[in-house]
Amino acid sequence: EIKNLVLENINVDFDKNLLENLFQENSDKQNGDYTIPCFSLAKALRKSPLIIANEIKDNFKQCSLIDKIEVVNGYVNFFINKLEFNKLILNNLIKNNNYNFDTFNGKVACFDYSSVNLAKYMHIGHLSTTIIGESLARIYEALGYKSVRINYIGDYGTPFGKMVYAYTQWGNQQELEERGVDYIQELYVEFCKRAEQDETLDEKAREYFKKIELKDNDIYPIYQKFIEISKQEAKSILDLLGVRFDSWKGESSYTNQLENVVNMLDSKQLLSSSEGAKIVDLENYNLGACLIQKSDGTSLYATRDIAAAIDRFNEYNFDKMIYVTAVQQKLHFQQFFKVLELLGYDFSKNLNHTYYGMFSLPTGKIASRKGKQAVLRDLMDYAYNKVYDILKDREFTIENKNEVATKVALSALKFNAIKNDRIKDSVFDIENCFSFDGDTSSYMQYTYARISSILRKIDYKLTDNIDYQYLDGEQCFNLLFEINNYKNVLFKAYNQNEPSILSKYTLDICKLVNKFYIAEKVISDNQQKTTTKATLLYYVKQTLKQLFNLICIDTVEEM
Ligand code: ARG
Repeated sequence: EIKNLVLENINVDFDKNLLENLFQENSDKQNGDYTIPCFSLAKALRKSPLIIANEIKDNFKQCSLIDKIEVVNGYVNFFINKLEFNKLILNNLIKNNNYNFDTFNGKVACFDYSSVNLAKYMHIGHLSTTIIGESLARIYEALGYKSVRINYIGDYGTPFGKMVYAYTQWGNQQELEERGVDYIQELYVEFCKRAEQDETLDEKAREYFKKIELKDNDIYPIYQKFIEISKQEAKSILDLLGVRFDSWKGESSYTNQLENVVNMLDSKQLLSSSEGAKIVDLENYNLGACLIQKSDGTSLYATRDIAAAIDRFNEYNFDKMIYVTAVQQKLHFQQFFKVLELLGYDFSKNLNHTYYGMFSLPTGKIASRKGKQAVLRDLMDYAYNKVYDILKDREFTIENKNEVATKVALSALKFNAIKNDRIKDSVFDIENCFSFDGDTSSYMQYTYARISSILRKIDYKLTDNIDYQYLDGEQCFNLLFEINNYKNVLFKAYNQNEPSILSKYTLDICKLVNKFYIAEKVISDNQQKTTTKATLLYYVKQTLKQLFNLICIDTVEEM
């Protein structure tokens, strides 16, 4: 690490550990590449920041990495020798081409994400939970965690009573076989329409839901069929998005735990009654009331989540469990985390709700067809066609344009879901997101493909035949300087559960690659010069590959 290399050469008579946390990168390179602000040391050392700064400067042992040191007010500014730096960083990449760290080896993190309510379409909102969750699972893995991916499907609730009832009354088996989820959705919509005219229908739906719960011989198999069909649909979408779950254990698995949860709460005297329902009063914590049991004796969302958390702790013994949903569910998570804490479950402190803001389409075009919550399948088709149109006239040697179009289209959808701070509301930039320039995944994939094309052109093979003196360009330095931040950025994204930190970083690197490419002729008559620069590009490509994977973007060798 650069920090250690610099600190090693400082020989002050106070504790050098004090400098560890102060050493930082300069955003404004005018004042040096790195800096140590000495203000916070003044009190402890009983000297002015300026005196301390000068002391550091005067006691710095010359080294090849640092060209110059300047003291400005209370800052010590370090100017890097760019050629030395480039040599060091590229050499590191070559010797230690590893992007995974064992920091948290042996720890387990569970991720509850996607978690779609079945028998409904997956819509654009599911893209956020699915991709943020998947990205986090990969980030944690890169730091040594074992990630457990859980799709806590919504396979329980009165909507199923409605659908199944509708099917038994006016449904048709052949259509169900042929049209799957589309047909189930239609039955549901039709039910709601008829229920507006006919009040008895809702009662019927409840009755049918009861039959589902009691595993009625005639009704339960229909429910199961619906679940199977919509599970397959969700699976095929998730497959396309490159997301695979370890567990699909959904809400219905926990309805039989109601009694257990009630008994536990009772024995800790945490339950109270409210209009026939059972609740845990959380007023003391400013969290309202957590509903546990309805007046008709059925379980609630929170009850099932409490049971699920305990079950998962028993099964996976997790060190952390992260739930990814929209911000609207914040109170729900605060409530049942608190209830678990009151029940004495120590693991409750390791539960985390990672939430995101509204992610929607602008009005118009595809949005107007199905409203702002556009159906994910439609969106995928739309994206594919749009990208295929762009690619169709390009000179292409690759046989499989379809595959490239699919990767580019889906990556654009995925990237839109994690390119901004997750908590901010954002509008899907459906018109520009496929463009090959701008802050898009297509731009990044294009950058990647461009590197590949250069390496192909010179038939690049890994070689020792490089000479670092050719890495003297300004853009080469800027690129390697950014790449050197990989580990820090990864940790930052991990600490904040924020994939967008990595998205922005990846985008920055791509911009620097293009600047490098424009400023420096990579391919020249000088064989060694060419291989040196190509070697740099080869390792940049490895870094990008790693980053793309962390933010769920597919790589393409050509586009
Ligand atoms: N199925 C829920 C929904 O669509 C999300 C579930 C989130 N996970 C959880 N353990 N509550 O709103």
